[in-house]
Amino acid sequence: MNFKKFALFGLFLSTLPVFASAARVGDFALLDHTGKHHQLSYYSDHAGVVVVAHGLGHSTGIPANVAGTENVAVLYLNALPDETRQAVSEAVTHDAVPVLLDESQMVAESLGLTRVGDAVVIDPANMTIVYRGNVDGLEVALPAAIAGKAVASGQEGGGRAISFASHQSVSYANDIVPILMDNCVSCHQEGGIGSWAMDSHAMVQGWSAMMREVVLARRMPPGQIDNHVGRAIKDVAGLSNKEMRKLVRWIDAGAPMDAEAQDPLASVTFSKEKFTLGEPDLVYKVAAQEIPATGIVDYRYVPVQLDLDKDVWVRAMEFVPGDRSVLHHVIAYVSSPADKTVRGRQTGAARGESVGGFAPGRQPDQFWDNSGRLIKKGSSLLLQMHYTTAGREAVDETEIGIYLHDKPPAFVMSGGVAGQRRFLVPPHEKEYPLEGVQEIERDAYLYELNPHMHFRGKYMNYTAEYPDGTSETLLSVPKYDFNWQFNYVLEEPLFLPAGTKLIAKGAMDNSAQNPGNPDPSKPVHFGLQTMHEMFFGFTTLRYVGDTPASIVAVDKEGSENPGAE
Ligand code: HEC
Repeated sequence: MNFKKFALFGLFLSTLPVFASAARVGDFALLDHTGKHHQLSYYSDHAGVVVVAHGLGHSTGIPANVAGTENVAVLYLNALPDETRQAVSEAVTHDAVPVLLDESQMVAESLGLTRVGDAVVIDPANMTIVYRGNVDGLEVALPAAIAGKAVASGQEGGGRAISFASHQSVSYANDIVPILMDNCVSCHQEGGIGSWAMDSHAMVQGWSAMMREVVLARRMPPGQIDNHVGRAIKDVAGLSNKEMRKLVRWIDAGAPMDAEAQDPLASVTFSKEKFTLGEPDLVYKVAAQEIPATGIVDYRYVPVQLDLDKDVWVRAMEFVPGDRSVLHHVIAYVSSPADKTVRGRQTGAARGESVGGFAPGRQPDQFWDNSGRLIKKGSSLLLQMHYTTAGREAVDETEIGIYLHDKPPAFVMSGGVAGQRRFLVPPHEKEYPLEGVQEIERDAYLYELNPHMHFRGKYMNYTAEYPDGTSETLLSVPKYDFNWQFNYVLEEPLFLPAGTKLIAKGAMDNSAQNPGNPDPSKPVHFGLQTMHEMFFGFTTLRYVGDTPASIVAVDKEGSENPGAE
């Protein structure tokens, strides 16, 4: 939607009653006052989506017939700069109508909502506005609009005007390029995982309409979290409200080049170092994987023999994808010799005991604070490799670099999981809740959280329940995307006293509204293949007192190998 055209449209509205022209709206996604993710296109199975501009202390009551209309989604949208998510969530105690927080104001601006009480009805099947007016007008307008009749626009909402952040002149070189460099170019470069390279103004301009859409739909940059809750996370993905405004308004203005035409994007160079952490101690080549040109490639489980003649302490692990355009992610599970004989090849994976991984945009795994992980002599890695097709046949030859401690580190890092392995998600189910618990039996420090589900994964959050009865949310991923397996690293390791419960809560979406769902008509259960599901809230943590010496001693007594949950 072009903003300039829209402003014009608004102008007409206030002067003469026009029939709601089929104004197109772009897709958008926002979090509501409880942190839940809502996306316009998700409601495409509804007859209508009503969006009402919301403000605390203003009556924007939804007419009873509207609230009761079957198959119509009703959403409030709060774009008032002085009404924070916290204020709204404290004031709004009902959860009948979610209040979407439009913090950048870009959704209100593009829907043309200018006052509290303004309302639009959107036909989600073709993403057009079929009614515009105030909330009271919905009583008459909604039934007509969803019946497909032309509906005259109504009055403006009577509430407080939404004061929009002022338009400032945006420079391509000084404003836009830095935003892209900080948030996008790490993937969108020649040879990168991104589907196109942001290497010139012309490229960016050509893709700008799509950029607007993916940014407003929170699809790009991938890996976004709910940044109103939880612990501080390193390098968290997402644009600030200001960046969002600059980018969207620049695109709406036609994505212009600056007057003095210098294109900083054209001269960016990237490090060609293979391993960013330096020369590894051990390098393994993963068996070449042939990837077809099109179609869905099932997860592959590829064993890698490590041929270790002694136990080693790993301090870091880095994957170098052979072909970034097809390799989507890798999770490396360790199988120790004991696993193999007792439980067969894939048990390490089935128990969720991962030691590292690769995902686009993810930093190589490093074990901090002079800690490491033990890989025992005779162990092998089992790689879960996920490929996507790129329109041409490809051969991926990924390499793994393993960095060792010269001498045993002071501390041992462990992998854990709050997972649920027994479940059956019914067909067509939109939100099937799952929950897993990891009991922290000894004092520990938590370092990383890594939600892992397959195609039906909808969202996941982690909570710590402390032995003193208090609890806190650690991380919330409101819109899980199976294409991205991000590892969320806590900025400060978090102390978890013995007796803490780490709880991962999430949900599966087995409906047709989930675009990634291979088959909504089938029930789905736990399993290693992509067509099955997983619900693992992986954790990386360091138990206080776990030293290499203590681990080796316990292990000699014949207990489970360290790092097991
Ligand atoms: C972590 C890697 C990564 C980052 C960071 C990233 N992208 Fe992407 N982007 C991808 C991949 C992979 C695709 C292709 C697959 C897809 O659409 O998900 C893509 C696709 C796109 C597309 C095309 C969408 C389509 O449906 O064809 C646009 C536009 C885009 N990205 C814009 C952006 C913008 C703007 C940013 C920064 C604000 C950004 N991306 C950041 C990886 C990334």
